[in-house]
Amino acid sequence: MSLQITPVTPSDPTSFDQYLAAAAVLHKHETPAFPPTTRKQLSSMFEHPWPGNVQERYVASAEGEVVGYVSVEHYTEDNPDMANLDLGVLPEHRRRGHGRELLAFAEERARDLGKKTVNTHSMWTLPELDLVAPDEDGPAFARAMGYRDALPEVNRVLDLSTVDESVLDGMLEHARAKADGYRLIRWNDPTPDDIVHDIAYLDGRLLADAPMGDTGWEPMNVDAERVRKTEAAIIARGRTSYHTGMVHSDTGRVVAWTTITADDEFDWHAWQQITIVDPDHRGHRLGALVKVENLRWFREQNPKVTAIDTFNAAENGYMIAINEQMGFRPQYAFQNWRKDF
Ligand code: ACO
Repeated sequence: MSLQITPVTPSDPTSFDQYLAAAAVLHKHETPAFPPTTRKQLSSMFEHPWPGNVQERYVASAEGEVVGYVSVEHYTEDNPDMANLDLGVLPEHRRRGHGRELLAFAEERARDLGKKTVNTHSMWTLPELDLVAPDEDGPAFARAMGYRDALPEVNRVLDLSTVDESVLDGMLEHARAKADGYRLIRWNDPTPDDIVHDIAYLDGRLLADAPMGDTGWEPMNVDAERVRKTEAAIIARGRTSYHTGMVHSDTGRVVAWTTITADDEFDWHAWQQITIVDPDHRGHRLGALVKVENLRWFREQNPKVTAIDTFNAAENGYMIAINEQMGFRPQYAFQNWRKDF
C-alpha cells in the first residue's frame, strides 16, 4: 500500500493542520517535557527561515489517514553536501512499511538536490545516565536502513525551583578569581554594532569547536550580515534572547558568549543556547562566568520561568561539568544518525 505524500505549506490549511497534529502526537510520545510546536511557531518557521537554510515539510497518509511526516532541510551558505531529515510515524501505524517508504522519498529528494550525506536523529537509551527512550523503534529502524550512529546527545533541564544560589555564588567567586582583565557585557537582540563582528567570529567557530562526532557538519560561514539576518528571524519568530559576553580589556574584543532564549508563547520555559569561549582565552573560567551571570540576569527579567533546557554532545565533558554544577540534570538522550550516498 503506497503512501500519499503531500508538501506542507501555510497556504494549504489541510496539510498544515495534519503536520501540526502528527508532530503533536510524536511530541507527546517522545519529549512531553518540552514545549510543543505551536501553530504560530510552525507558521513563523515558514515565514522567517534561518538564513542559508531551506526546509521542506511533507505529511503522509495511508487510506485517507495521516500516518506520519518527514522534513528535508538543506543549506545554501555552508554544508552544501548535507541534508538533515526529521521523520516520524505515529505509534499506532508502525511496522507496516510507512517509515521505509517515507525515508526512501526523503533520501531521493536529498539525492535530487545533489546531497551526499544525510543526518537525522532519534531518541536513545543511555543506561549510565538512567535515560530510557520511550521505545527502541528509532534506533532499530535507523540501523535497518543503513544509518550509522554519529553522535549521542543529552538534553539536561534546570528546574529553577531547585537552584542552589550558594553554589552559583561559589562558581562566580572561583571564576572571577581567574578572570582578571575581562569585563562583562549584556544585551538583548539586536546585537550592538560595535560587537557584531566578534559575535560572527564566535558563532562561526561553534561547529569547529564543539564535539560533532562523526556527523560531518562543517563550521558555518558566519559574518555580520548573517548574524543580523538570524537575529531578525529570531525576533520575528517571537523569541527574546538574553546574551552575556566577556570583553578582553586589552583588545576590546568579545571572547566569551552565551545565550538564553525565551519564546513569547511559553512563560514557563527557556532554552540555554550556545556557550563559546575563544580558544585563545580558555582557562579563565569565562564559560562558567557567562553562564551563571546570564542565568541570574535572565531570571530577574523572567520570574515565571520554571525550566531551562539545554543540549550537549554526550562527550562534551567541560560544558556538561559546568551545567551539572549549576543544577542541570539529564532528561532525554538522542542519537544522531548518518548515511552517505
Ligand atoms: N524493532 C526492530 N526493527 C525495526 C523496528 C523495531 N521496533 N522498527 C522498525 N524496524 C526495522 C525493521 O527492519 C523494519 O522492517 P520489517 O518490518 O520488514 O522488519 C524496517 O525497520 C522498516 O520499518 P517500517 O515499518 O517501515 O518503520 P515504521 O513505519 O514503523 O517507522 C520509525 C519507523 C520512523 C522509526 C518510527 O518508529 C518512528 O517514528 N519513531 C520515532 C521517530 C524516529 O525515531 N524517527 C526515525 C529516526 S532514524 C531515521 O530516520 C533513519
